[in-house]
Amino acid sequence: MYKNFYGLKENPFNVNPDPRFLFLTQEIEEALTGLMYGIQTRKGFVTLIGEVGTGKTTLINRLLDWLHQRKARTAFLFNSRMNSNQLLDFILAEFDIPCDSKSKSQQLMKLNHWLMERYRLGETVVLVIDEAQNLTYPVLEEIRLLTNLETSTEKLVQIVLSGQPELEEKLKLPQLRQLRQRIMLRCKTAPLSKEQTHQYVAERLKIAGASGAPIFSSQTVDTIHLYSLGIPRVINLLCEHSLVNAFVEHQRPIQPKVVEEVAREFQLDELDPSAPNGGSKIDSDVYNSEAFLQNLGEALSRFRFSPSTTTRERK
Ligand SMILES: Nc1ncnc2c1ncn2[C@@H]1O[C@H](COP(=O)(O)OP(=O)(O)OP(=O)(O)O)[C@@H](O)[C@H]1O
Ligand SMILES: [Mg+2]
Repeated sequence: MYKNFYGLKENPFNVNPDPRFLFLTQEIEEALTGLMYGIQTRKGFVTLIGEVGTGKTTLINRLLDWLHQRKARTAFLFNSRMNSNQLLDFILAEFDIPCDSKSKSQQLMKLNHWLMERYRLGETVVLVIDEAQNLTYPVLEEIRLLTNLETSTEKLVQIVLSGQPELEEKLKLPQLRQLRQRIMLRCKTAPLSKEQTHQYVAERLKIAGASGAPIFSSQTVDTIHLYSLGIPRVINLLCEHSLVNAFVEHQRPIQPKVVEEVAREFQLDELDPSAPNGGSKIDSDVYNSEAFLQNLGEALSRFRFSPSTTTRERK
C-alpha cells in the first residue's frame, strides 16, 4: 500500500531470504567466496556460522543459485529436527535417487553408486544443511560418515553445515571430535556496522525501485541501526513497519520518531541501546558481551523466520 507513495515497485524489506537482495559486505563476500572455494576445491566439509538473522540462509540461497548455474547437483535440508534414520531418506529424495529399500546399508549403496556416477561425469555434488545447530549428535555422526564416501583422492560429496553459534559450541564437544577434524573451512556472517546499515537500507530500496529524494533521513537510519544492532532481519522489520506507519502521515523522508515507536512496539527498546555501553558506542566488544547476546537472543527469538515457508525453486 505504501509502494506507490514511495515510488517502489516491490516490497524492499521482505523477510524472505531472497538472494536477489543479497547485500555484499566484505564479510559476506568473504563467506560466499569461502563457500565457493571450499566446494570447488572439494574440501569435503565447510561450515557457515552466524548469529540469528545475519543472513546465513540468504547467503546459502545465493550459493545454491551459483551451484545450479554450474549444473552442480544439490540437496538442501533445513528440517534439522530429523532423526538419523530420516537423514538418508531426505538426502535420497532431494537428489532424486530412486530407492525402494528402507535399509540403511541399501540406501548408502545407492547413494554411493549415484555419487560415483556423478564423479565419473565430472559433476559436483553438494549437500547443504541449514539450521544445523539443532541437529542431534547421532545425526551429526551420520553426516560425518557421509564424508567417508570418497575416491582415493577426493570427496564425492561436499557438505555445507550452516547454523547459529550453538553449532560451533556443539562441534567443540569431545564426542564430535572426528567431525570437527574434518571441517576444512569455516565461514561467518556478522551484524552490520553503522555504515553498512546505511548502505544496506539504500541498496534494498534501490533494488525495490526507489529513486529521487531519500525515503529515510540519515538520522533515521542511525536510529534503525541503534535498535537493530545491525542485524539485517531486525533492520527489515523496523524499516517495513516504519514505511507502513509513515505512509499513513505521508511522511518523506521518514523521521527517527517513527522508528522509535516501532522499536517500542516490538520491545526492541528493552535492549536499551542508550545504556552506557550502547547507543552510538556499540562496537564489537558489546556484540560479544554475554549480557548483550542473552538480551539479543531473547528479543530475536520473537522475529525468527521459519525457512519452512520458503518457496524457492530448487534443482
Ligand atoms: N547480506 C544480506 N543482504 C540482504 N539481505 C539480508 C542480508 N543478510 C540478511 N538479510 C535479510 O535479513 C533477513 C534474515 O536473513 P536470513 O534468514 O538469511 O538470516 P539467518 O542468518 O539465516 O537467520 P537464522 O539464524 O534465524 O536462520 C532476511 O530478510 C534477509 O533477506
Ligand atoms: Mg536461516
